[in-house]
Parts: sequence; structure tokens; C-alpha cells
Amino acid sequence: MTDGPTPRGAKDRPLPIREERLAAVGRRHRAPRSERNPLRAGLRLERMPDPAAIVLFGATGDLAHRKVLPALYQLWRSALLPLDVRIVAVGRRPYDDTTFRADIHDAVTAHARVQPVDEETWATFAERLEYLRGDFDSDATFDDLAGRLDAIDREHGTLGNRLFYLATQSSAFVPIVRQLGRVGLDREVTGDGWRRIVIEKPFGRDLDSAQRLNREVAKVFREEQVYRIDHYLGKETVRNLLVFRFANLIWEPLWNRRYVDHVQITVAESLGVERRGAFYEETGATRDILQNHLLQLLALVAMEPPATFDANALRDEKVKVLRAIVPLTAAGVARDVVRGQYDAGWVAGEPVPAYRAEPQVDPESETETFVAARLTIDDWRWAGVPFYLRTGKRLPKRATEIAIVFRDVPHALFRGQASEPEPDLLALRIQPDEGILLRFGAKIPGLDVDVRAVNMDFGYGSSFSVDSPDAYETLMLDALLGDQSLFTRADEVEEAWRVVTPIVEAWVAGAPPEFPDYAAGTWGPEAADSLLARDGRRWRRI
Ligand code: BG6
Repeated sequence: MTDGPTPRGAKDRPLPIREERLAAVGRRHRAPRSERNPLRAGLRLERMPDPAAIVLFGATGDLAHRKVLPALYQLWRSALLPLDVRIVAVGRRPYDDTTFRADIHDAVTAHARVQPVDEETWATFAERLEYLRGDFDSDATFDDLAGRLDAIDREHGTLGNRLFYLATQSSAFVPIVRQLGRVGLDREVTGDGWRRIVIEKPFGRDLDSAQRLNREVAKVFREEQVYRIDHYLGKETVRNLLVFRFANLIWEPLWNRRYVDHVQITVAESLGVERRGAFYEETGATRDILQNHLLQLLALVAMEPPATFDANALRDEKVKVLRAIVPLTAAGVARDVVRGQYDAGWVAGEPVPAYRAEPQVDPESETETFVAARLTIDDWRWAGVPFYLRTGKRLPKRATEIAIVFRDVPHALFRGQASEPEPDLLALRIQPDEGILLRFGAKIPGLDVDVRAVNMDFGYGSSFSVDSPDAYETLMLDALLGDQSLFTRADEVEEAWRVVTPIVEAWVAGAPPEFPDYAAGTWGPEAADSLLARDGRRWRRI
């Protein structure tokens, strides 16, 4: 964990205690159990962040409305933000504080995790929200911002602590970082508060651009100040992967090439591209999900146990795995990677259009809305074990799952009985219906010896009576606390691009795809099934 320097005067100020905070948010009681963050007492101690100003760039955009601001409101409601917090929203649209707060009230009403919105709490949150209108490439915006932040420190006791959050289009990342550097907002002088920057995805569009972006960021901010978001790392069930693997002894002996036949990781979405056609045309499933969410899940499944839960120890282990993924050549891409694009079809009983008929999408688009890949990891633990990854839009359902499929027993005692035993399997259900399923063979009651697969099933919903925080709540709080564990490091992002860049480059250089090739509401193109069938395997039916 990395903490910034001690903020000016912080030692003299008593930290706001929970009750004080709750009184301030206008409530008589502690946050109800269902609203408290259940896992903060696990790997890390519950702590109140320092007073701080949060500067949100892209505050009028979709991400800020749907995720970032509702998460901040929820943290405030759960009494997990300090009293002395200010949120400065920077955007191009012509709002003032009043109109911006009204707009965010609507967003929070629509997207807050705990409903209905508590109006008293909202009022105390809204008081801390202010709007700064400006262009991201104009000097004036950042001169104004610097002055505004100094005034906020004086008037609201934010102690010089500043969290810059870049929820903008990626083209604005470099201009904003340079401007922050120009006005000195990056600089941490001992005793003068900490400065941190959160950068959303996509972080680059290939290895080259990611390296360039890292270099630009590094000219202004030290790596310890940089928090690159992959929101999958903030998901409760993804964090539980670490607990599952490293807080239990029984899995470790099985977690390797001797017992594991292969691993399947699926991120399936039933949604199409919604109103993000223009963004998605430039991105595609490989850059949007494979490079980040899928490879992060793979890294967490495959990594060695870190020696400590220090952010760098954890990320060192993930980087080692990513580095050990065997790079694909153009021939390897043709053999081991399948892309697809959805045609019109039916999802949840409703007819839906083809990708090429979506708004802002080229009618002859070659952008993939589905990708499946067979990757291998060249290390002692995983040599020879294929990792099959797949993701797609407009699949039959929304489901993220990691399936560890075990090898067959060495000597099949029960072969030839009425039903063939299925391989043992461990399915980690990331979402929805969060839980863990262990499938194994059991004898069917009766005089014969017939084997059938049965399930042992753990469900979060039935085992715990608390709601999970949203990934953005967890990540925002961690950034305020200075904990980088759940954020990706510069070398980690680059290693992930090293895996993915040959794929996207081979497609650009190769023959055009025959799109569309799967109907909306199906599990992707047939070639995705062949990818496993070729190895004598099949995708698990989710
Ligand atoms: C985002 C992608 O990173 O993740 C989206 O840009 C995708 O295209 C989303 O829909 C999925 O996130 P979640 O949390 O809904 O699984």
C-alpha cells in the first residue's frame, strides 16, 4: 500500500469518526448493515480517507453519470467519505453549480446502488459538489482550476489532497495530464498534501500507444501517483478470487498442470453496443474486454501467491503471468483466435438489429463484437494447459464465469456404465448470481453403479446478508486511501497489450472477415466451438 506524504496539519486534526460523519450526513443511525462495505474489514482495515478535493474530468459524460458520481454518493451515504470532501466537476457543457447538481441528482436517482435516494443525505452531498466549465486543452481552464483548488483548501479544509479522475475520452488524457503538470497540480511537496490521478480505460489502443501514454503520464506523475482503472478488479467476486485461492489450503495442491485440464473464462453480455457505436467501432471486443478484463481475470487465476498483499507484490505476480503468455504469431492468430460480429436476432424474447445496423456503425463494419482465444502460459505451473477466453455482445445472457476443468481420473473404473462421468469442475461465477460451484461425480442411488455429475453450490446471496459495494465504490475509496492494489501498473498494461497487439495487427493485415457470422442471442460463431472441439473439448454451457 502506498500512502502519500502526511497532509499539512493532518496530525493536528482529529480524524472524523464515523458517528460525527453520520451526524453530518443528517442521519440518526449508523448506516444500515446492507449499506456498509462488507469486505473492508477483510484484507485491509477500514480507514477514513484524508480530507480531499476530487476533480472529475468528463463529469457530464456517460461514465460519470452512470458510475463515478453514483459511487461517490453511495460512499457518502455509507459514511465512508470524510466530511471535508469537495468534488469539482470539470466539463464543457454550460452548467453552473445549481444546474449541474440537478443533473447529477437525476443520475444518482437512476443509478445509485441503494434505492431510493435519501434526500437528506443527497442535500449534504450536493453541497460538496461544484462545477467548473472549461475545455481540457485550454490554459484558462487549468489556471482557474488551480486557483479554485487553493480556495477550496482554505475554505473547506481539504489540506492540499487532490484526486484527479479522468473519465473523459481517451484522446483527452494527454492534454489533461500535460496541463496539470503545467500548472503544478501534480507536485507533491512534503506536508502539502498528496496528488493522485485515476485514468480510465482504454489505456492505449496497442502496445505502442500504451507505451507512449505511459511515457507522457510519467513525465508529470510518479507511478505511485497513478491509478489505472480496470473496474473488474473492483468487483467483489473478483476480489474474492484472491481470498478463495490464498485464504484456503485445499485448492493450491490442485491448482496446476497436474490436475487442471484447461481453464475457460467467459465475459458474456446480452446487451449490444447501445449508444456507444462510434466508440465501439474504434475499439471492438478485443480491445474493449480481452486486453483488460479477460486478461486480468486470467492473471488472477494463474498467478503465484504474492508474499504480501502489498500493491506491488500483487502486481509483480500478475505481470509475471502476463509476461509468460506465449505470444501469438500471425499463423497463431489464424489458428487460435476467433472473431465474430452479430447479425440480427432475438435476445430475451425481443428482436434486435445486426451490429451493422446500430447507430453510428458503418454498414460494412469489420469491427468484431465477439472474440475467443486459446492462450497458453509458459511457466512451471501452467505449461501445456490451455486457457480459453471468450467475450461477446448480444450473447444469450449476461454472465461472467471462470471455469477450472480438471483432468480425468488416471484409471476409469466406472467406464461403460450408463452415463460417462463428466470431468470435475470448479466454476467461479463472477456475475450475476455470484457464487462458486464445484461439480463432481456421484453414484446414482440404486443397485447399479451409475455415475452422474452433481453440484455443490455456494451463493453470495444465500451465505451473506449484506449487499456488495459496486466496483466503482471500492476503487474510488481505494484511490482516496492511496491503495494501488486494485489498479493496473504501467508495465502490467503494457504486458497485456503485448499479448493483444499481434491479434489486432494480424486482422488488419489479413483478409477481411466474413461478417456478420453469428445471430444475436447465440453463443457466437461456430468457429468458437471448433476452437475447443479441435482439442476434444467444449465450452461449458452457462
Ligand atoms: C466495459 C466495456 O469496460 O465493461 C463495456 O467498455 C462493457 O463494453 C462493460 O459493457 C462490462 O462491464 P460489466 O461490469 O457490466 O460486466
